[in-house]
Amino acid sequence: MFAADHATRITVPATPRDCTGPAHGVIWISDSTPLRTKDHSLAFNSPMTPIMSFVQWSPELDVGDPKMNAQHQRLIDIINRFHDVLQQQAPLPELVAVFTEVVDFAKEHFRDEETLMQAHGYPGLDEHLEIHHRFVARVTELLLQLRSGQRQVAADALNFLTDWLTDHIKGTDRQYRPYVAPDPGP
Ligand SMILES: [Fe+2]
Ligand SMILES: [Fe+2]
Repeated sequence: MFAADHATRITVPATPRDCTGPAHGVIWISDSTPLRTKDHSLAFNSPMTPIMSFVQWSPELDVGDPKMNAQHQRLIDIINRFHDVLQQQAPLPELVAVFTEVVDFAKEHFRDEETLMQAHGYPGLDEHLEIHHRFVARVTELLLQLRSGQRQVAADALNFLTDWLTDHIKGTDRQYRPYVAPDPGP
């Protein structure tokens, strides 16, 4: 654990996911990155940054296509693994390996998703493609920083991934749902 004079300890309620592990999901990162948590309630400035980000599947992430749902779940699993290795303060190569997995699988998923939207004549394809493109550019930049030894970007990377992925699935991916899974009718 950390010396008391170097860290401000906070306690958060255990969540269902945390119940299988330690009682609390707070970890500390030694940098000055402004922190955000999934519920935005624990943010404060400290030289030691607590991270409390993870993603859970919920019905509001259902985009109406089984393959896309499965791929989204896998992405969530990998992001949660990234959260875990960060929490465990794993060596940098391990962080890089998991983050690389996120980037690689996101690219594979985007290709499949774009093919699906195209096959169903989804009219928002071009805009959606551009959003995917911007995401890949950002995570590639983060991956390069991480690979170059800038471990402190990992916290930002995790926050970016969790926020982006859930917002994107709920706000953007679900817009193609009526095209790929039209209501069967009465
Ligand atoms: Fe998408
Ligand atoms: Fe997606």
